[in-house]
Amino acid sequence: MPTRPRIAIIGGGNVGASCAVWAATRELGDVVVVDIPQAEGLVKGKMLDLAEASPVDRFDAAVTGTTDYADIAGADVVVITAGLPRKPGMSRDDLIKTNVEIVVSVSRNVAQHAPDAVVIVVSNPLDAMVYSAWKTTGFPTHRIVGQAGCLDVARYKTFIAMETGFSVEDINALLLGGHGDDMVPLPRFTNVSGIPVTQFISPDRLDQIVERAKKGGGEIVELMGTSAYYAPAAGVTQMVEAIVRDKKRILPCAGYCDGQYGIDGLFVGVPCVLGAGGVEKVVEIDLDDSEQALLTASAAHVRELVGIVRGMYPDLA
Ligand code: LAC
Repeated sequence: MPTRPRIAIIGGGNVGASCAVWAATRELGDVVVVDIPQAEGLVKGKMLDLAEASPVDRFDAAVTGTTDYADIAGADVVVITAGLPRKPGMSRDDLIKTNVEIVVSVSRNVAQHAPDAVVIVVSNPLDAMVYSAWKTTGFPTHRIVGQAGCLDVARYKTFIAMETGFSVEDINALLLGGHGDDMVPLPRFTNVSGIPVTQFISPDRLDQIVERAKKGGGEIVELMGTSAYYAPAAGVTQMVEAIVRDKKRILPCAGYCDGQYGIDGLFVGVPCVLGAGGVEKVVEIDLDDSEQALLTASAAHVRELVGIVRGMYPDLA
């Protein structure tokens, strides 16, 4: 008898709890959420509360909160959301010093208790945190991936749907690069049910939409005083589903580049085939010179952030 996949979420804050809701309600597997001892009552209470919604929403999934990493044993997927969110005026990069310590400590526990898991990192600054998790766990690169592109492209698609009035379901788009304001949405690879988006939106207006998508995280922080969580968690859930159901989806994720797109030894947002093995392939597409220049600049920014991590933790070099 096949057993249900096991999904572990580290960090029971807004992103982690929202991931738990979607993973459980979509019956992607049993869910365990780990938080720090100071948050024991909160994480246990939130997950009991969610479990008590299951008879109403009709989902079969064991949902538990814990502070004990031993409870993630056997996890197929581990989602790392632990870390501080942004406050107004902060960039994602401002979080690096605090969050790298948290991600390194969490990753040690993940390596010990869930050594066979595929790890999805969500903490910011995302691309540098994926690198830190990779170096700390020592997992093969295909089992370490970052969630950013699913969120970033979702924002871009949302704004295109708002502009055109067409269904979000029919907006297809691609986005590359790091999870910073220099991410690279690609209008040339954007269409509505196969029809080039330029048939519906003028180039100038599309530029404005691209800019809004790039700064979409900051827009939310300014509005509500902390980082977004529904759309980030939806992006995570899409990735978890692709892995536990072995869907072989092509999703924009922070995957390890080993020469692809001229990027070497870094995790940067690229189209990844996600399936049971984690990142099963990085898909390369032909970029024009201006697209490649934007991606190269974004990757250079990621490399700077990784340099800060290496400075803090020489062992991670
Ligand atoms: C954002 C944060 C979560 O983009 O990075 O909203």
